[in-house]
Amino acid sequence: MYSVEDKIAIITGAAGGIGLDLAKTFAQLGAKVVAIDAKEQDSETVKSVFAGAKYQPLIITADLTKLEEIERTIALTEAQWHRTDILINCLGVNTRKPIEDYTPEEWDKILDVNLKSVFFMTQKVSERMKINASGKIVNISSMMGIITWDGAGKFSLAPYSASKAGLISLTKSFALALAPYNITVNAVCPGFVDTPLVAAVKNDPILFEDIICRTPLKRFAATSEIVAPVLFLSTAASSYITGHALLVDGGWNVQ
Ligand SMILES: NC(=O)c1ccc[n+]([C@@H]2O[C@H](COP(=O)([O-])OP(=O)(O)OC[C@H]3O[C@@H](n4cnc5c(N)ncnc54)[C@H](O)[C@@H]3O)[C@@H](O)[C@H]2O)c1
Repeated sequence: MYSVEDKIAIITGAAGGIGLDLAKTFAQLGAKVVAIDAKEQDSETVKSVFAGAKYQPLIITADLTKLEEIERTIALTEAQWHRTDILINCLGVNTRKPIEDYTPEEWDKILDVNLKSVFFMTQKVSERMKINASGKIVNISSMMGIITWDGAGKFSLAPYSASKAGLISLTKSFALALAPYNITVNAVCPGFVDTPLVAAVKNDPILFEDIICRTPLKRFAATSEIVAPVLFLSTAASSYITGHALLVDGGWNVQ
């Protein structure tokens, strides 16, 4: 019952730290994965990551801030697998700098990738899910969409935090709009996860110390610790949960 086997799962940001682990785990559990990223995925990595999977993934290189690219990925998915059961919006970008230094271009880039792309991807994919009267959508937001952090006084995450707060709001709006079609929409809000997105933070002793000090579990999450709650929200195990933002932050928000 609580399985993703034979389900068609679109995963965006699938060449990144969390997205690749999601794609790998879903494929290992027998899902038909559509792995989308703006970054081209090299064939040797793909071969080794998905070795032994029940279905080889459909790998698509696409910039999902462009509506025509969203349409193209959906057309490719339908041509191969005819429907979509699960959508995981995991793509994301971040910039860290003092609040006065952000340019309009940087603002647009962060909001376009983290929010606009998710809105239109979800709008288009959910149109297809409605026909089947079922679907599971999971948005990877961030604990920075609930609180924010000033990098021990070094920078502001204003655009990133605003985009991730917006994503929690989008999650609720889509949850309401799609509930009549038996489609659940939830968000996972990670704290610090050991991936390339936060390598610069992890490698800065002052920032690292500040994070560990604020995190009761005293470490970054492994990607598998984000994959597990996403998996839960992608199966019938979470059938009565919708519009929820699940913090997975090692306890940061408790204090
Ligand atoms: N790593 C963390 O500590 C952390 C914490 C909280 C939330 N998150 C969120 O988790 C998600 C995954 O983060 P990650 O740590 O794996 O980062 P990552 O940088 O390793 O992966 C993000 C992926 O998104 C892709 N991407 C960016 N713009 C795109 C576009 N226009 N079209 C298609 N793909 C695009 C990138 O190419 C990259 O592969 C992001 O949404 C991030 O904000 C990460």
